[in-house]
Amino acid sequence: MDGNGRWATHRGKPRIFGHQQGAKSLTRIIRSCPEYGITHLTVYAFSPENWHRSALEVNALMRLFQIYLRAYMGELDREKVKVRVIGERSRLPNRLQRMIETIETKTKNHTRLVLQVALNYGGRDELVHAVKTMLARHQDTQTQALPLSQNDLAAALWSNDCPDPDLLIRTGGEMRLSNFMLWQLAYTELVFLPQYWPDFTPDDLGQAIAQFQGRERRFGRIHPEHNGIESNNTMQSESNPNRTHTLETTFGHPRLPSTHAVKDSI
Ligand code: FPP
Repeated sequence: MDGNGRWATHRGKPRIFGHQQGAKSLTRIIRSCPEYGITHLTVYAFSPENWHRSALEVNALMRLFQIYLRAYMGELDREKVKVRVIGERSRLPNRLQRMIETIETKTKNHTRLVLQVALNYGGRDELVHAVKTMLARHQDTQTQALPLSQNDLAAALWSNDCPDPDLLIRTGGEMRLSNFMLWQLAYTELVFLPQYWPDFTPDDLGQAIAQFQGRERRFGRIHPEHNGIESNNTMQSESNPNRTHTLETTFGHPRLPSTHAVKDSI
């Protein structure tokens, strides 16, 4: 959700005004997900590096997260959205931590949309956390005998509730990953957009999905048509071979071939 600060600065407003508008944009995007067939959405709201911003901005953001959760807890629950927060939450204000626990518990059985909010989240931190978790699970095992596979690591990630993302959209004109979901993005399609997050609309989301649907996802393989094998329009994900990614889908009533969109922010 990149570009809130610049959006506000260009209008002669304080940066937090941009974050408030960014929160409105987020609401519009969450509401539009079911219509696009998106079943998992991850938004990057705060990185460990963001603590280095002014105390004014950091405190205002922490307050905004609490205000947002309080204001939308009812709607998210009614709309059957499961809310999960990923990241190192022990550094977040205690009240925010309690609020996160409440909303996670309240919505834990919902399946219409899984909304992951990355808060104090860093991709490298997540990998270190996953390795520590795996080692703790096998405390008594000799190092050489550790039964550690890609699946074990994926299961130890904070985001173990979600499949790997199909599509990452980064707003605000930057073209990098900035330590976001480094493991999970291995085969994700990337879309970079110039518009600032408060200007990002559900129509823009639709256009990004259309771009995604125009891409051929080969997961490192040769397309069957170029290999003398008849195409059945499907290939399987390397990282999760049980998930089939359809190569062609229509955008009329777009069900994403596999449906995890991600918004990056930092
Ligand atoms: C990045 O833009 C955005 C953030 C650090 C905060 C994102 C927070 C919201 C959209 C508020 C609502 C979110 C939730 C989860 C309730 P930036 O400040 O880096 O913008 P810049 O690149 O223009 O400086």
